[in-house]
Amino acid sequence: MPDEWRVKIHSPSDLAGRARLHWTSDRLQRLMAGKRLPLHPVTHAAFLHVTGLMSDDASVTSGQVKKYLQINHMISLIAPPFRALAKAMPGRTLTLLDAGCGNSYLSLAFAFLAREANAGRLPQIADWKDTAFDLQVIGVDSNAEVIRQSRERAEALGLGEVMSFQAVPLSAAVLPDRLHAVMALHACDTATDEALALGLRRQADLLAVAPCCQAELAQHFKALAARSGGSHPLEVILHSPNLRRDTAATFTDALRLALVRALGYEATATEFIPSAHTPKNRLLLAERRGRYNKAGLTSFLALKTASGEATLALERAVQDLLQERFPDGN
Ligand SMILES: C[S@@+](CC[C@H](N)C(=O)[O-])C[C@H]1O[C@@H](n2cnc3c(N)ncnc32)[C@H](O)[C@@H]1O
Repeated sequence: MPDEWRVKIHSPSDLAGRARLHWTSDRLQRLMAGKRLPLHPVTHAAFLHVTGLMSDDASVTSGQVKKYLQINHMISLIAPPFRALAKAMPGRTLTLLDAGCGNSYLSLAFAFLAREANAGRLPQIADWKDTAFDLQVIGVDSNAEVIRQSRERAEALGLGEVMSFQAVPLSAAVLPDRLHAVMALHACDTATDEALALGLRRQADLLAVAPCCQAELAQHFKALAARSGGSHPLEVILHSPNLRRDTAATFTDALRLALVRALGYEATATEFIPSAHTPKNRLLLAERRGRYNKAGLTSFLALKTASGEATLALERAVQDLLQERFPDGN
């Protein structure tokens, strides 16, 4: 194909035309299920195409649909508390960390939508209509290739000034002393805990993590099964690999929630996207309210006892904060 044709086919205006033709009301209904999602496949076709969430013919493949829905639903849930944060800190640049950002779909979308909001062009997030805020987004991932691609995409979208990336493990990231929000979408295993710990340490006002696979507690349960001699109250669960895995995942998130509450946050666990799109569909959302909460610590300790005294990654990572805020240990 001659180069001039190639350029023509991929030019933004051509893509916009294709998107208008492709996205009939039936297709929109199938994709968005009647919901008002932040990124619209016609209005935001150029963004979706640059980030790899839309194909050249303006369609969205089944693989792309999954990520498209994950980031849209996650942003829909983060948008209201983020707006409250922006309102509480007028004129302040808000710093957002995307921990284990991968290809940075989530943070690119967030930075892009913030720019749309600032420019008064935001039909899809009703909450942000009258909200303008300056944003600095930091993406961290240990995989250098995804960071290279994220940088390229941020530049292509004109977001190079508001986004920065680090190709390092979270433990080696160089971050400002104060983060306003931390999000992590399916950061592997205990990287979710590292993300939460970074936010807790930097007094982030908002924490939003959708955990990925969780192996730590499942291993602990397995060891517990081997030494309990049939007497543990969770016996039936401990001896069934399937129940053990599911219970470990739920217990891990409950322990995370309780610990975050103990450290002064109001926190909830919700399903952010129907399980048909991903089984990893739990979002832990936490907003900072104070320095500590004794009732939160009590429920954390009770849960820990019920888990067979497991000391998981998040507790280890914030041990010093717990000691500082609860010097008597309760
Ligand atoms: C399943 S991917 C999710 C990527 C992205 N958040 C998304 O939803 O598309 C998990 C990412 O976390 C990164 N990761 C895992 N552990 C990490 C760590 N300790 N520090 C930094 N990145 C990590 C991996 O390299 C990978 O890119």
